Amino acid sequence: MLRKKRIGIVTSGGDCPGINAVIRAVAKNAFENDMDVIGIKDGYHGIVLNDYKELRRDDVSGILTVGGTILGTSKKANPYRYAIEKGDKLEFKDLSKQAIRNIEKMGLDCLVCIGGDGSLGLAYRLYKDGVPIVGVPKTIDNDIRGTDITFGFETAVAIASEGIDRVHTTAQSHHRVMIVEVMGHNAGWLALHSGVASGGDIILIPEIPYDMDAIVKRVRERSKRGKRFSIVVVSEGAKPRGGDVVIQRIVKESSDPIRLGGIGFVLGEQIEKITGIETRTVVMGHLQRGGIPVPFDRVLATHLGVNTFKLIKKKMFGHMVGVKKMSFVPVSLKIVAGGIRRVPKDSPLVASAISVGKRFGV
Ligand code: F6P
Repeated sequence: MLRKKRIGIVTSGGDCPGINAVIRAVAKNAFENDMDVIGIKDGYHGIVLNDYKELRRDDVSGILTVGGTILGTSKKANPYRYAIEKGDKLEFKDLSKQAIRNIEKMGLDCLVCIGGDGSLGLAYRLYKDGVPIVGVPKTIDNDIRGTDITFGFETAVAIASEGIDRVHTTAQSHHRVMIVEVMGHNAGWLALHSGVASGGDIILIPEIPYDMDAIVKRVRERSKRGKRFSIVVVSEGAKPRGGDVVIQRIVKESSDPIRLGGIGFVLGEQIEKITGIETRTVVMGHLQRGGIPVPFDRVLATHLGVNTFKLIKKKMFGHMVGVKKMSFVPVSLKIVAGGIRRVPKDSPLVASAISVGKRFGV
């Protein structure tokens, strides 16, 4: 009797609304094609530790709108540099051979890795080491090369925009400067889109280092025009011209150990000191990653999952499905592993924002 084909699914890196919709779409297509599906637990930890469970139809039913990932995830697990606690110290070991042996033991014909740039970079390494792997781009940051959009981004934009909308009225009432710090890592997509969507007056993104004089000038100009409040939307990765990012913590176990955060408070203090205008800071933080995905992300994630299954059927390992000009295309993981996708200097959206009076701190 012919052995049933088996797909493994792993979710790795920061969670993001829409992951479960991808799992559901891949698994439902697999079941329809008489394949088995296993879910690997807690990202690459599950691969190193051989920790997984069989997924049945019931497991993937009713999860379309559920946030997070039903499989668990990790931003720390890296088979090539696996952190092991030794007393109060950390030791790093290359456990990739063990991970690959486990994948063989799991009997996988294909491993689907749903991840951001870091996780897909690891997927590319595993592929080069012989694992039949396909990727699915996932992040609220929208910074993955080879795709115009990632699921989770629209949800994060909606949450950040709601936050900015809400501080608008309180800024107006108190004649204050309100700063809203949003995520996005080293790319400014989230700040740019939520800033434009919610009419932020000053939008600061990592790709355009800011100048404090320009920010202060804008705040004062607005005051003179009778607008006695200003909204600053700042990306966690924004930095002053000639200066550096604000680091919130270092996560030693992680392959990308720097966690950004805190720039909003630094800016707030400086703006208040220079202008004399009372200033408050709000950090949107992990609210942007939690909860139910917006309908756009559910549709995108479902469509991506279905197209990922098509890649699996065609045995196009070492690829992910990207979205290019509104259609789905295979993209080599080598491209994805080459770095992040940032807001280009000549971004049409930056130009449009400037034309309606927004400023980028320059
Ligand atoms: O990549 C997603 C992201 O939410 C970034 O926007 C942010 O910089 C980072 O993850 C936060 O990481 P953590 O979940 O470790 O706090």
